[in-house]
Amino acid sequence: MIPDWIELRTLGDERGSLAVIEAGKQVPFAIRRVYYIFGTRPEVTRGMHAHHRTRQAAFAVRGKCAMLLDDGATRISVTLEDPAKGVMLEPMVWHEMSDFSPDCVLLVLADAEYDESDYIRNYGDFTNHVHSSQS
Ligand code: TYD
Repeated sequence: MIPDWIELRTLGDERGSLAVIEAGKQVPFAIRRVYYIFGTRPEVTRGMHAHHRTRQAAFAVRGKCAMLLDDGATRISVTLEDPAKGVMLEPMVWHEMSDFSPDCVLLVLADAEYDESDYIRNYGDFTNHVHSSQS
């Protein structure tokens, strides 16, 4: 599984930097929800779920964290540490976030409102879904 990175153009001048995310341009979906995770302790692992349908894009707009991505066949770990470089979290990709720096602010854009029924929070259920969709 190759992670789908989103590289933002940084607009900068002597006053500082600015990055823009527009729906359907830098992110390939209409943004219905924005949330951000902050104040996470470094020893904590978050996420640990997949979504049936929701598409998301995640950016560490400050600090850094690790993001494990698992499509049921391959596992990869990427580091989010550049505010202008995010990663797509596609449906049916199990993801775990860890190794948060104390200052990390992880911004997530989603194409759907929060819906607990869209979550798969058990890894065994996730792999069962992956294998049943392949047969
Ligand atoms: P949770 O899914 O456990 O966060 P993470 O995936 O980062 O580990 O979400 C924490 C709580 O927040 C949980 O009670 C669900 C709730 N929540 C919302 O109400 N709306 C949202 O958009 C999100 C992402 C979570």
